[in-house]
Amino acid sequence: MSTGIVVRPAREEDTPALVALAGEGLPLASADARARMIERALADGLHELLVAKASEEIVGFIEWLLAYDVAEGAPIAYVLALYVRPDWRQKGVGTALFKAVMSRAKARGASEIHASVVAENEAAVRLYRRCGFTRVYLLLEAQLDQ
Ligand SMILES: CC(C)(COP(=O)(O)OP(=O)(O)OC[C@H]1O[C@@H](n2cnc3c(N)ncnc32)[C@H](O)[C@@H]1OP(=O)(O)O)[C@@H](O)C(=O)NCCC(=O)NCCS
Repeated sequence: MSTGIVVRPAREEDTPALVALAGEGLPLASADARARMIERALADGLHELLVAKASEEIVGFIEWLLAYDVAEGAPIAYVLALYVRPDWRQKGVGTALFKAVMSRAKARGASEIHASVVAENEAAVRLYRRCGFTRVYLLLEAQLDQ
């Protein structure tokens, strides 16, 4: 990891920076909708947002969830989002965020960690493989009309 990068749990005051970063990554939802999701994620005991700080700025974040898996008989960790600001990529920030989640999930009793990514996303696939992930599932998705 580059020197000067600190990974820590997100706090309420990080919301504007997180909304901006999430909007860069996937400009689909509104800032208000994202802020609401951050508020909920910070409040429930199962989600966690971690931020990577460098030069006094938030340069990346990861969102993960601990789910109680009845079939598995153990909690399972799911990575929901990972984003690093373009000017901070390929400096180890993504790996630092990911490794922090792996160790926090393990500490909370998770037996597995799952992450999904489009197959063409070389950077993410490489990062995940370097962290010990192998390709297991076909992920299916359907939109739920509101
Ligand atoms: C994927 C992402 C999080 C990687 O973050 P990062 O901070 O650049 O990752 P790291 O510096 O820790 O690099 C980890 C590995 O990925 C590789 N990598 C990073 N960017 C890459 C790229 N553009 N092409 C190929 N490999 C890449 C690195 O080389 C490194 O592997 P190596 O050590 O074997 O060379 C970042 O590119 C990103 O935010 N992308 C947009 C959002 C996204 O795709 N999120 C993941 C899916 S939800």
